[in-house]
Amino acid sequence: MCFGGEKVLVLGIDTSCDDTSSAVVEDGWRVLSNIVSSQVSLHAKYGGVVPEIASRRHLEMIAPAVDEALAAAGVALQGIDAVAVTAGPGLLGSLLVGLCFGKSLAAGLGIPLAGVNHLEGHIYANFLREEPPEFPLLNLVVSGGHSDLILMRGHGTYELLGETRDDAAGEVFDKVARELGLPFPGGPNLDRAADEGDAAFLAFAHPKMEGNQLDFSFSGMKTRALQALDAAGLRGCDQADRAGTQAKDRSSVVKGISASLREAIVRDLLYHVPALVNTTGARGFAISGGVAANSLLRRRAEAVSEKAGVPLYIPPRELCTDNGAMIAAAGYRRLQAGLADGPDLNAEAGLELASWART
Ligand code: KG4
Ligand code: ZN
Repeated sequence: MCFGGEKVLVLGIDTSCDDTSSAVVEDGWRVLSNIVSSQVSLHAKYGGVVPEIASRRHLEMIAPAVDEALAAAGVALQGIDAVAVTAGPGLLGSLLVGLCFGKSLAAGLGIPLAGVNHLEGHIYANFLREEPPEFPLLNLVVSGGHSDLILMRGHGTYELLGETRDDAAGEVFDKVARELGLPFPGGPNLDRAADEGDAAFLAFAHPKMEGNQLDFSFSGMKTRALQALDAAGLRGCDQADRAGTQAKDRSSVVKGISASLREAIVRDLLYHVPALVNTTGARGFAISGGVAANSLLRRRAEAVSEKAGVPLYIPPRELCTDNGAMIAAAGYRRLQAGLADGPDLNAEAGLELASWART
């Protein structure tokens, strides 16, 4: 595999949760195809992802998803130069499907393999552009399992500045949405409900914390939102089935809680950014992960970056949620640094994000 000469095509695979994703990316940034086979309809009736169902479905979909990614890119299997696959964190059974498939493919074709940390993948969604962000780069990674502030001083360097001490932002959106009776998946549906609600419906204080002030804490907000639902006598009822509660009242409570919660979470996520850009000398602010698809976060991030005087990087929505293209982009950088993995690569549900390069 040669970097800097012929074009390099990396096949990216992600099966960390409930989407079977595969993509072909050229030279680490140009997305030739990006296929996401969603399992939303399978999990919807349970109100959340069922790990056993997810891994079985990945088994059925992984080969068709890879085939489709190759076909959409107009590339034959033999034209692929390397395989990048998510090694963790995620649901172990789901991860194993993509990992075994990716490993086998790389071994069968005799091409390099790169195991990628899923969070690193999210970060690299912002590098799927011809003009990549400059370093140092301040990253806010917000997904279903993480809310992290990470400083990159170069490719493959990750300095954790702050993280959630309890629930991740996406997790709170999902849990509250479920109790509000909004359909699965919770985050995007709460986002839509919030668009029609009054953000002043409920006040959420900025949590007081000891220690690292750059950490986040969202579990208190979840509790407060659910208490408000209790107070309105609406907890656990689906749509308009609670005697004495008019559908119209219910709907305004649901929208009000959604709007206020979204407002408070977005406020806290962006709270430290201008000061941090200043102290770290960051030359850009990048947001990634599923919650980066949130409409209010996207709007507010513009204003915050402008205030901080640095460019904002935020992927198009389809590259915020899980996808294979971001994994291919991160894998490309690892391979470029000479970090190919062998057939002993393992999936790890709790894989930590570790730097692989020095600045
Ligand atoms: O990155 P992702 O697809 O999977 C994980 O790595 O976790 O993120 C999924 C999370 C879920 O919690 C989902 O509800 C949330 O991202 N999410 C959103 C929106 N779209 C997805 N949260 C708020 N607003 C959205 N529009
Ligand atoms: Zn993700």
